[in-house]
Amino acid sequence: MILGIETSCDETSAALIEPNDGRPLLRGLVILSQDVHRIFGGVVPELASREHVRMLDPVVQRTLAEAGVGWDRVTGVAVTAGPGLIGALLVGVMYGKGLALSLGVPLIGIHHHEGHLFAPLLEDPDLTPPFVALLVSGGHTMLLDVPAWGEYRLLGQTLDDAAGEAFDKSAKLLGLGYPGGPALAALAEHGQPKAFALPRPLLHRENLDFSFAGLKTALATLLRRQGTEISASTRADLAASTQAAIVDVLVAKTLRALEVSGLQRVVVAGGVGANRSLRAALDAGVARLGARVYYPPPALCTDNGAMIAMAAALRWRAGRVDDRLGWLGSPRRDLAFEVEPRWPLAVPGVTAEPRLDR
Ligand code: KG4
Ligand code: ZN
Repeated sequence: MILGIETSCDETSAALIEPNDGRPLLRGLVILSQDVHRIFGGVVPELASREHVRMLDPVVQRTLAEAGVGWDRVTGVAVTAGPGLIGALLVGVMYGKGLALSLGVPLIGIHHHEGHLFAPLLEDPDLTPPFVALLVSGGHTMLLDVPAWGEYRLLGQTLDDAAGEAFDKSAKLLGLGYPGGPALAALAEHGQPKAFALPRPLLHRENLDFSFAGLKTALATLLRRQGTEISASTRADLAASTQAAIVDVLVAKTLRALEVSGLQRVVVAGGVGANRSLRAALDAGVARLGARVYYPPPALCTDNGAMIAMAAALRWRAGRVDDRLGWLGSPRRDLAFEVEPRWPLAVPGVTAEPRLDR
């Protein structure tokens, strides 16, 4: 049984996955979203690290207790090694090293984004590459061509703000607090998506890149024009129009990625993948192309230990030692790896990692 640990940002999470011969079962999961950042309107890295230090052990203990599993059943520890906040990553990796050492089991370092890509397997265990992946989180927005598990080719990415960042910054402008994505989405349900015309940058460009930085400026300008007294319905219209602008671009580029790659499957991963409006629009667009879209269960779209344990279970089963990156995803008994706060999953034109099944 693999214990997965995730501490790259502001969620302290652990999960237990039973490999079950290639059809992994989720046996326990605890996700603790740190509340301390709320009053600052964004994640404060030092506070995130301190909260991880305080809460990681209780979160892990609780995960085992909920699964009714003792330490003797844990045969491997998987931990997010990057990318993310360096202090936050260090807490998880050092805890993981200590735990692996004391249990006498291997430690597996996992790339956070690869973890996100494995989350849909918890819903659809038969999902296999090749597929297009849309990774939409608070820090990243990318389209990937995934010919095999472990092999990632970048098709396009954001040139500035990530989709989740666009949700969060717009939510802040609308006074919805932090983290604003889900709050903006909830408010948008009561508004008209066509009420305000917000920009859809790069929508008609041939490439598969995104740009969301202009959106918050456009929204700020609209808000200034509205003056100080904004009615509840106008605020809902602004939220709905902002969401529509983000969703339109994400869907159009994802469908284009399917067309240019000739692939028939899309995997959506990352926090914004929980957005209902995105799911509805993507479902409709993908169905028109006769393709199929896979999502993680909504609760596993945002950061969690299950996706990390899942990626580790499949990597371990493939028994692959990555010779280029040395330690990536291969069980290590010598615990010899470091955190990687900046770590590209894929760079343009280059396949980042050897295949898992080689
Ligand atoms: O993947 P994630 O948990 O963390 C990163 O690795 O960044 O994604 C968090 C992001 C935040 O920007 C959050 O506002 C956004 O996902 N998010 C949403 C929704 N749920 C989470 N954005 C729009 N609609 C949602 N329902
Ligand atoms: Zn994430």
